[in-house]
Amino acid sequence: MTDRTKATAQYPTETVDQQGRGNVWRTCAVLLPFLWPAGRNDLKSRVVLALISLVLAKLANLYVPLVLGRLVDDLSDLTDTTGLMLGIPLAALLAYGLSRFSSLTFNEIRDAVFSRVSQNAVRQVALKVFQHLHSLSIRFHLQRKTGALNRFIDRGTTGIQFLLSFVAFNILPTLFEVLLVCGILWALFGIQYALVTAVTITIYVWLTFAITSWRTQIRRKMNDSENEASTRQVDSLLNFETVRYFNNQSHEIQRVDQALTSYESAAVKSRESLSLLNVSQALVVIGGITVMLVMAAFNIRDGTMTIGGFIVVNTYLMQLSIPLNFLGTVYREIRQALVDMENMFSLLDEKPEIIDKTNARILDVHSGEISFQHVCFGYEPERLILDDISFTVPPAQKVAIVGPTGVGKSTISRLILRFYDPTSGSVTIDGNDLRDITQDSLRDAIGVVPQDTVLFNDTIYYNIAYGDPSAESEQVYEAARTASIHDFILSLPAGYQTRVGERGLKLSGGEKQRVAIARAILKNPKIFFFDEATSSLDSSTEMAIQKNVDEISSGRTTLMIAHRLSTVVSADEILVLEHGHITERGTHHQLLTSAGLYAHMWQEQEKERATAHIGLASDNARPSPGATTEAGGN
Ligand SMILES: Nc1ncnc2c1ncn2[C@@H]1O[C@H](COP(=O)(O)OP(=O)(O)O)[C@@H](O)[C@H]1O
Ligand SMILES: [Mg+2]
Repeated sequence: MTDRTKATAQYPTETVDQQGRGNVWRTCAVLLPFLWPAGRNDLKSRVVLALISLVLAKLANLYVPLVLGRLVDDLSDLTDTTGLMLGIPLAALLAYGLSRFSSLTFNEIRDAVFSRVSQNAVRQVALKVFQHLHSLSIRFHLQRKTGALNRFIDRGTTGIQFLLSFVAFNILPTLFEVLLVCGILWALFGIQYALVTAVTITIYVWLTFAITSWRTQIRRKMNDSENEASTRQVDSLLNFETVRYFNNQSHEIQRVDQALTSYESAAVKSRESLSLLNVSQALVVIGGITVMLVMAAFNIRDGTMTIGGFIVVNTYLMQLSIPLNFLGTVYREIRQALVDMENMFSLLDEKPEIIDKTNARILDVHSGEISFQHVCFGYEPERLILDDISFTVPPAQKVAIVGPTGVGKSTISRLILRFYDPTSGSVTIDGNDLRDITQDSLRDAIGVVPQDTVLFNDTIYYNIAYGDPSAESEQVYEAARTASIHDFILSLPAGYQTRVGERGLKLSGGEKQRVAIARAILKNPKIFFFDEATSSLDSSTEMAIQKNVDEISSGRTTLMIAHRLSTVVSADEILVLEHGHITERGTHHQLLTSAGLYAHMWQEQEKERATAHIGLASDNARPSPGATTEAGGN
């Protein structure tokens, strides 16, 4: 668990600089179609409406200083009655109020109207990535950390939202506004005002970017230590039991405090640097304003400018500095957002290892004969797990595979389900090479009870019904009865509605296995595959289930990997797997007489059983299905 959480925690921060830039255009290219979605005229009209509101809000905003200046002039000279009503500049006053109000309102309309577009984009993108992840091969998922994948999507979608709201509606319009303001000042008061504004804003932007780049390192350190702290906390709480066993609470607290201390100092530094940024920004803006006001004062003294003009100059610069205030944050966040989006979109570049051929057939199992022909396979090229394996499970027969742990038994089930393709040789069902049929139809045909069952964090009912979500509840109960878990479930206070906890951890190993058996039974497949499906059960429960399973699977092709040899005695053929080869094959009795590995393993287990009977008679004396007597867990 440590590795998983660590890797997750390490992912986000180091990436800001290394990858951020190159693929901006690609990121935008992927995103654009979602903002102008084909066939969604409602969304397109929202985009147009939002843009119109944006322009109107900006125009109203630009009008505010002008009308304010005009007001000041009118008010300072009420003897000139042109444009006055009731002795005051009523129209201008109303225009001032109206333009301020419209500016705000159009901004709100813009955000409200656009929200459906951006949220729709976020949903579509997240769904597309999620769907793609499910299409990828098991190898990819074993290599990637699930937590990190989840984070990629989370952060990526947040990034989209951020980019849309800030770049589209904040940064670009503000830059446009700067140009307009310069133009207006130039037209009204002369080029020198436009120049001072332009220089001020340029210095401001440059300074902000420079300080922000420096601050990014501090922020990164802060994020790293925050991640470290949360990793340590999560890891520690996950291992709660272990901490208790070893009574190491104080050690844990100390470890967490270390990380928190380093976070604390980084956070303080970050805050200090933020203040520095704010002060520097203020210095530039106020410096610019002061210079312009001095210029304006001279102009007023010379009679070339009115008091209103003075107000106009001041207000324009103040107004510009408001959105620019956030420029530092926005700049940093945009870079992060681009990286996050790029990370998310890079998932879309992952190609599934196993893909259906374009002309793949739909598997229609009639007899259900499974055949391995000269199959060689290794997860990595350097290490062969299965070496020239050939065997056939005739229709409706039961074949068992036994052998030492790690020899490649579960690997065979992964090849039958086509999680991987064999390196050489072929696997066929009813004569169809698995590479020629669709994965969907293949997996529909096979019911698997895996070696390690992980359950969904939902109710027991949900987990069993997962085998066939369309099943009636009576069918679900029947499957549970066959798997000998119905009575146990009813004995729970919440019955079938009991929640099984994360990964099913609230159930014991044997209970989980029985849920897994029940859901495979419910699936009602043509072919069964049991991978040490009863290894965590006590022998009496195992026998009870075995009887039911034999009944269920009779008439269906069944492959079973067995832990206890007593469960394979009735198999039509038993294969002994050793060092990647099948070293023995035959019925139970044939194998016993040949005195090989199987006979040896059988004797060992018989001995164990005898000892268990003498020493621990309770193993069999536990008929109540509710009692949890499973040996070990998985
Ligand atoms: N995804 C994987 N990547 C690399 N090696 C693997 C992977 N899965 C299993 N192995 C290795 O392949 C061998 C066979 O595994 P498996 O088929 O699960 O054994 P078992 O016979 O106990 O079911 C083991 O040595 C295991 O370490
Ligand atoms: Mg296994």
